[in-house]
Amino acid sequence: MRVYDIITKKKLGEPLLDTEIDYVIKGYVANEIPDYQISALLMAIYFNGMSMDELISLTKSMVESGDQIDLSGIKGIKADKHSTGGVGDKTSLVLLPLMASSGLKVSKMSGRGLGHTGGTIDKLESFPGFNISLSSEEMFEIVDRVGFAIAGQTLNLVPADKKLYALRDVTATVDSLPLIASSIMSKKIASGADYILLDVKIGKGAFMKDIDHAVELAKVMVSIGENFNRKTGVVLTNMEEPLGYAVGNALEVIEAIDTLSGKGPDDFTTLCLFLNAAILSLTGLTASIDEGIIKTEALLKSGVPLSKFKDFVAAQGGDADYIDHPERFNHATYQYEIRSDINGYIAEIDAEKIGICSLMAGAGRETKEQSINHSAGIVLKVKVGDRIDANDILGTIYTGKENMEKELSDYFRQSIKIVTESVPKPQVIIGIVDKNGFKDLRKKG
Ligand code: URA
Repeated sequence: MRVYDIITKKKLGEPLLDTEIDYVIKGYVANEIPDYQISALLMAIYFNGMSMDELISLTKSMVESGDQIDLSGIKGIKADKHSTGGVGDKTSLVLLPLMASSGLKVSKMSGRGLGHTGGTIDKLESFPGFNISLSSEEMFEIVDRVGFAIAGQTLNLVPADKKLYALRDVTATVDSLPLIASSIMSKKIASGADYILLDVKIGKGAFMKDIDHAVELAKVMVSIGENFNRKTGVVLTNMEEPLGYAVGNALEVIEAIDTLSGKGPDDFTTLCLFLNAAILSLTGLTASIDEGIIKTEALLKSGVPLSKFKDFVAAQGGDADYIDHPERFNHATYQYEIRSDINGYIAEIDAEKIGICSLMAGAGRETKEQSINHSAGIVLKVKVGDRIDANDILGTIYTGKENMEKELSDYFRQSIKIVTESVPKPQVIIGIVDKNGFKDLRKKG
């Protein structure tokens, strides 16, 4: 077999055989095929797409490129969730306690953040002592006892994706539907859960900029999941503005604690309730999503998810006393309040710009080697649709960096658009996709 011929076939729009795809993935992971040939193939895939058969073959080869987690040692219904990432996305910190309190078992691998979106691991490391390097035995023990555990990626899961993703990042081929679908699904399948719920974010702060493309991606991921015998559902959600008010590691943890205490922002609480209800319905623990929402609301009120979160933090070595006393989290040295110059309505809060501003304040890293300041970030005071008066606070920037007030404030201001006419509040849940297709859940009018 010659890679040259495989590239040519794809360039001409002909489907690749599973043996050809496997040859390419194995050869690339073994460093036997150079980046420039894979770059050409990625670009041919970008333009000519992939059939479902090719996608299944690609996902299978990627899954088999590294370790696969066997969760059969854990009793109960094993479920996993994944978000395509967004600004202020602290969903795992609330959803996993909800899932565990609902009787599901969740063994989750998470990553660190890079660029303008944060990673769950970075947020959790705001707790002094929190340990993300768990052995499989430790992980299974915590999942059995508490219901969920979150570890960093110690195992060699899908090395093919690590190499391919890095190459896509520098060859302008990240935004290819088959490449995104196989990248996400290979990691979820290798992680071992039987039920997979995906939160696909749409909007300025997300990969998917419009609903049609997101629905197409969701349908493809559901088909891949079902092909590997994993029941897969997708919730499409809004990421035009940041989720909740807090952006930045410890700030987001505090907002997650508030949400688990029933005092969270409306949009974030709605999202967490809906996602838990969607996974309850996917696993058959409830007959419908509506029934799941009622059940999850009652659970949240009971306080059980909050105490699960405490058990989880303690089980992974973190100081769970911070949950009862969030004032113990480190405070940023500098805090800058940004106030509105005019009266009006909030028409836009650009999630990507807020994410970048938070990164500039020290909450994120631009290269893998950079360290982060867990107390840095932004707490917004407003959401799209809010009415404000001149001099009202729009948000507060937290940073440990000196002499950054002007630069950060100017950038923050650029992310917020204020108009004189009233603006409707955006809906956080856009729709769901399962094996029956797309269901639009946007309320009309
Ligand atoms: N998230 C992933 O894990 N992979 C992609 O390709 C895009 C988003």
